[in-house]
Amino acid sequence: MDILVVGGGGREHAVIKALKKSRRAGKIYCLPGNGGIARDAECVPVKATDIDGIVAFAREREVDFAVVTPDDPLCMGCVDALEAAGIPCFGPTKNAAVIEGSKVFSKNLMKKYGIPTAASETFSDPAAATEYLKTAKYPTVIKADGLALGKGAVIVNDFEEAQKTVKEMMVDKVFGASGEHILIEEFLTGPEVSVLSFTDGKIVVPMVSSMDHKRAKDNDEGLNTGGMGTIAPNPYYTDAIAAECMEKIFLPTVRAMNAEGRTFKGCLYFGLMLTADGPKVIEYNCRFGDPETQVVLPLLTSDLLEIMLAVRGGCLREDMVRFRKGAACCVVLASEGYPKKYSTGYPITLPEPGAGEDIYVAGAKLENGQLVTSGGRVLGAVATADTLKEAIGRAYALAEKIHFENAYMRRDIGRRALMALKGE
Ligand code: AMP
Ligand code: GLY
Repeated sequence: MDILVVGGGGREHAVIKALKKSRRAGKIYCLPGNGGIARDAECVPVKATDIDGIVAFAREREVDFAVVTPDDPLCMGCVDALEAAGIPCFGPTKNAAVIEGSKVFSKNLMKKYGIPTAASETFSDPAAATEYLKTAKYPTVIKADGLALGKGAVIVNDFEEAQKTVKEMMVDKVFGASGEHILIEEFLTGPEVSVLSFTDGKIVVPMVSSMDHKRAKDNDEGLNTGGMGTIAPNPYYTDAIAAECMEKIFLPTVRAMNAEGRTFKGCLYFGLMLTADGPKVIEYNCRFGDPETQVVLPLLTSDLLEIMLAVRGGCLREDMVRFRKGAACCVVLASEGYPKKYSTGYPITLPEPGAGEDIYVAGAKLENGQLVTSGGRVLGAVATADTLKEAIGRAYALAEKIHFENAYMRRDIGRRALMALKGE
């Protein structure tokens, strides 16, 4: 089967490496891919948001299956367009992708179906939002409705900050149309867990849980980023919590989407907070998380392509999704200065990863055959092992062997998880 993967980051690299292991995988194309993915797939410079270009390419090459992973093309209807052209896809249609595309939609869904989440109010008028904020409890959370490159949630500590954020989102429109509606949400506390799941609209099969590290600096300081590293499994996510999430969150969400006529097929990502009142949904994503995928898929022992085909076909079974025991760690190497200003164009030297190790490239391109940096997050050094401690040690050892000028990484990926394992 010839496969087309839409996207071009570390997540797509991990997806492609997992697909390559499938017995049935033939040629793999990646649109647009990147300089590192080019080692594993034929990369063609068609943007992930160029839906017409993607459909035309898929038709011309007669691909048998397409996997759409980034939020933008999913919310734009890339899967609908490919399916209409006769190309079977893994990924939700546009009317299901709205679960990520509109936070107002997902909040209303959770309220209507009794799915635990932070209490919140929706506003479309900045004056009304500002009035409400005068008597709000602080800290409070302000979220833009639409996609905002993961930067649409702002925690504000007082009325002044809140007022400024409302102005930025609703009046100055720093996130464009995404800020036309906003949510003002109760501030929750507790460990955060990412749970990616496969669903065919009938059953939901969670993958191994993971923990992201979103802040730029050690000890969760600095700015929010797209993710500086991940570990799996997440030690806070016990079997008892997993069972509770299945009953109160995962199944109710899939059923709610069916009831709304928006059957979700693909990877549904649950961003959870384990509060004193039980697990609550912080966000849904309509896709694999990045960089969660880079630790989840290396632990998958089943055939990813078979799973994806079953999701598309509505015949997913729980026994199709198996993970090895043990743990994984991904350390992201970024360009110094990310997520603000950084420079690019530096040559990268990569070691040959050993058994149980891998390097997933996110922001790099080929220049005359040489891999050079081209983005903020450049790549992820990943290792799997029998224990989390060992996986972390090996991921850092691998990261140390990767060189490019102005490389930056956090030094504490997985530290909190190790402390949780020790009961601290
Ligand atoms: P989101 O864009 O909704 O994923 O939010 C980004 C990050 O903001 C989350 O990973 C949390 O760390 C934080 N956050 C979002 N909503 C809340 C909330 N209601 N209470 C506390 N923290 C939150
Ligand atoms: N790592 C969080 C996300 O993919 O949105």
